[in-house]
Amino acid sequence: MTFKQDRLENEKNDPSEASSLKFINIPIILISIFVGFGISYLALKTKDAAMTPGDSRTVPASGGTSENAAAQGNMADLLSLMEKGKQVFTTTCQACHQATGAGIPGAFPPVSESEWVSGPPKRLVAIILHGLQGEIYVKGQKFQGVMPPFKDQLKAEDIAAVATYVRNSFGNKADLVSVETVNQVKEATKSRAAPWNGESELNGQKWD
Ligand code: HEC
Repeated sequence: MTFKQDRLENEKNDPSEASSLKFINIPIILISIFVGFGISYLALKTKDAAMTPGDSRTVPASGGTSENAAAQGNMADLLSLMEKGKQVFTTTCQACHQATGAGIPGAFPPVSESEWVSGPPKRLVAIILHGLQGEIYVKGQKFQGVMPPFKDQLKAEDIAAVATYVRNSFGNKADLVSVETVNQVKEATKSRAAPWNGESELNGQKWD
């Protein structure tokens, strides 16, 4: 075997720089393409977006004109009426209608789950303003007692509050009663001196 033959058969090709660089370059090119794409994508996407810190939620102006703010205002009204109404109920109504709102059978009618409470708001206000005597059926039970008037003792705000409170306590669920509604009933019934004469007189009125 000649030397030349030996070289041909046993030696591998000399490593060449060109061939190894070719394989290194492929990943480098691919990475460059991806990075370049990423940078230009971000640049294009964020071009129009204002770079302000924080998330992009907006804070609704309290007391503003949006529906959302109106609903929040209503909720705030309800909460403050409920709080005040609870106080008024405890000091003014509870002795007769009881802390549970269940009343006392045969003597004081229940305000819990009562149609007279969750029915027309003006009728409820009228009962509180002028009081009630004579026959009334509450949850199928007949009562014939005397409830005193509160028009001189309670302010319009107190009546709105306690009416709202009873309409939203003791298992009742009804809309709130505004001070405006109380003043309307006050005005419409201002010549009245006597308590309402039972359910027959209450049922003979228009309450809306
Ligand atoms: C001195 C006891 C007394 C007090 C205090 C009193 N009530 Fe009454 N209430 C009665 C009686 C008695 C009746 C039923 C009158 C009848 O038989 O005609 C009545 C009836 C009612 C009714 C209609 C029937 C029903 O039970 O749903 C409502 C509503 C009511 N009261 C709410 C109130 C609220 C609110 C207050 C507090 C601001 C209050 N009452 C304070 C004795 C009282």
